[in-house]
Amino acid sequence: MRMYDIIQKKKKGKVLTGEEIRFMTEGYTKGEIPDYQMSALLMAVCFQGMTKEETLALTLAMRDSGEVLDLSGIQGTKVDKHSTGGVGDKTSLVLAPMIAALGIPVAKMSGRGLGHTGGTIDKLECFPGFSTELTKEQFCRNVNRMNMAIMGQTADLAPADKKLYALRDVTATVDQLSLIASSIMSKKLAAGADAIVLDVKTGNGAFMKEERDAFALAEEMVEIGKSAGKKMAAVITDMDQPLGNAVGNSLEVKEAILSLNGVGPKDLMEVVYALGAEMVLAAGKAETAERAAELLEQTIREKTALNKLAEFVEAQGGEKRYVYQPELLPAAGIQMQVINTEAGYVGGIQAEEIGLASLSLGGGRVTKDSPIDLSVGILLHKKKGQAVRPGEALATVYANDMERAKEAYGQTVRAFSIQPQAPQQAPMIKKILR
Ligand code: URA
Repeated sequence: MRMYDIIQKKKKGKVLTGEEIRFMTEGYTKGEIPDYQMSALLMAVCFQGMTKEETLALTLAMRDSGEVLDLSGIQGTKVDKHSTGGVGDKTSLVLAPMIAALGIPVAKMSGRGLGHTGGTIDKLECFPGFSTELTKEQFCRNVNRMNMAIMGQTADLAPADKKLYALRDVTATVDQLSLIASSIMSKKLAAGADAIVLDVKTGNGAFMKEERDAFALAEEMVEIGKSAGKKMAAVITDMDQPLGNAVGNSLEVKEAILSLNGVGPKDLMEVVYALGAEMVLAAGKAETAERAAELLEQTIREKTALNKLAEFVEAQGGEKRYVYQPELLPAAGIQMQVINTEAGYVGGIQAEEIGLASLSLGGGRVTKDSPIDLSVGILLHKKKGQAVRPGEALATVYANDMERAKEAYGQTVRAFSIQPQAPQQAPMIKKILR
């Protein structure tokens, strides 16, 4: 078999066999197929697309390029959740303890943030001493004991995807549906859960700006997961403005703690409950979404989810008292209010721009190894649809450096659009696929 022939075949719009897909994936991972040939193939895929069978074959080949986690040592249906990425997305921090408090095992692998979107691990490191460097034995033991553990993604999880993603990033081949679906699902399948609930974001702050593209991506990923023997659900949610009010690691942890105390922002909690209901259904703990919602609400009302977060933080080396005293979490020295100048309504908030403002403050990673400032970020005081008067604060910039604060201030002002009439409100939950 020759890579040249595979490229030629895809260029002409023909369907690749499973054997050809495995050959090129394995060859590329081992370094036997050079970047220039894989780049040509990726570009041919962008123009010609891939069938569902080809996409599944690529996903499985990437999954099998490294270690596939065996979670059989953990009792019960292991449910994982994945978000396609957004700004202010602290859903996992709220949802994982709620699910664990219901006795459903949450065995999660998470990543760090890159660029304008944040990562769960960075947020958890706001608790001094917290570590996600667990051995597989510690990981399984913690889940069996308290239903919750989070570890960092190991280097050997779907290494083919790691290499391919880096190549796609520099060859303008990221935004192809089959390539995105196989990339995400290869890692999720390798992480070993029995059921996977996907949060597919759509809107200006998401990968998939158009709803129809988000629906198609969700459908493709659900089908891949089912074909691989997993229980699957996908919730398509709005990312046309940041989720909740807080953007930035420590600010988001504080907001997650507020949410577990029953005072979370409405949009965030809507997403939490929609995803949570799917996780509870997948685990077989409820028969209907209504019953699942009741169970989830109980974890907030009775503070069992808050206590679960504290137990989990402590089990992974972190300071548990910070969960009950969030004012101890890292705080920035400078607070600069962003003042509104016109009367009207917030017509929209560019999520990506707010994410970039947080990045300018030092709250995000420019390269994969750059250090980050956990205390900085943006707190939004107004969201889309709210009336605003001149002189009112739209947001507060939290910074540790005046020059950076000024830059983020400008970015935050630009992110807001103020208009004379109230805008139409879009639903947070666009669709649920099971
Ligand atoms: N996230 C991934 O992991 N892969 C993609 O291709 C896009 C988003």
